[in-house]
Amino acid sequence: MTLLEELELAKQAALAAVTAAPDLASLDHAKGSATGPEGRFTVLMRRLGSLAKEERPAAGKAFNAAKAEIEAALAARRGELELRAAVPREPFDFTAPGRRRGTGRLHPLTRVTDDIVRAFRRHGFAVADGPEIEDERHCFDALNTPAEHPARDAQDTFFVAAAGRPLLRTHTSSVQVRVMETMAPPIRIVVPGRVFRRDNADATHNPTFHQIEGLYVDRNVTMGDLKGTVEAVFHELLGDDVRLRFRPHYFSYTEPSLEIDFTNALVRKLGKEWLEIAGCGMVHPKVFENVGYDPEAWSGWAFGFGIERIAMLRYGVTDIRAFYENDVRFLRQF
Ligand code: DAH
Repeated sequence: MTLLEELELAKQAALAAVTAAPDLASLDHAKGSATGPEGRFTVLMRRLGSLAKEERPAAGKAFNAAKAEIEAALAARRGELELRAAVPREPFDFTAPGRRRGTGRLHPLTRVTDDIVRAFRRHGFAVADGPEIEDERHCFDALNTPAEHPARDAQDTFFVAAAGRPLLRTHTSSVQVRVMETMAPPIRIVVPGRVFRRDNADATHNPTFHQIEGLYVDRNVTMGDLKGTVEAVFHELLGDDVRLRFRPHYFSYTEPSLEIDFTNALVRKLGKEWLEIAGCGMVHPKVFENVGYDPEAWSGWAFGFGIERIAMLRYGVTDIRAFYENDVRFLRQF
């Protein structure tokens, strides 16, 4: 058999394999066995050199023509097979009922936070933010909390293993300091955010939870403003049935300091008379000095609420851990 006869046979075989290829993988295989590095075609082509010199041009032409034919067949078959692969295997049933996609919703803590922020905005407060990884100055020193205070102990605070003793903020009060350091009074802000404490999780504690801090600084600010503002916001958030009680307390960054107790029908149903819900007070002159404000010229008040506490009261949730478990049966209720 001459080389050209062999070429013709190889071409026919290749065309047959290409046209018959049932899928893209078989097509690639057919291509490899024809024109791949060890393909039948390639092997024959190597023999071109053994032909007599005057036979070579015609043979070369024949090889090129055969190769072009195979490549055209490959491209045509590839097009067919790709189209087939793109068409759904089963015909689409336009009468089938639609598949319902679950709609996402806001987490209850997000909703409560948004509502609290919205209520304070109506009273003229802006929203401020600060870092969760803090330093001792912003979390404690500037807030007049002495170095030996138990809250600073490793028992209560998560310290980060890095230079400069960074820590996870134990309260959002650190942001009061950051805001006053960078802004001149008057100031009216709220700061929602995550805080961290070395507590074991139980029905009312979790090592991370959320607070909302408030700070109001201006000339001649009074405790009456504090009580009036907090009472108005709580009535907006939790209804008319709410009652608040302000009780003397101690915080190093306020003087006088108060705790706010809360009651409503739900609290009484839980068998309690009052539930402690927030700390607050008149900003301590030392804190003003620490941020470079003149305590003779400026006065202010501040507060800090636990957001989970408020969410639990609003929705009747009795275990704080439910907020963090991401159980959709719980989350779907809000
Ligand atoms: N930082 C306090 C806490 O975590 C709450 C608090 C009390 C914030 C009094 C204040 C404040 O701004 O004035 O328990």
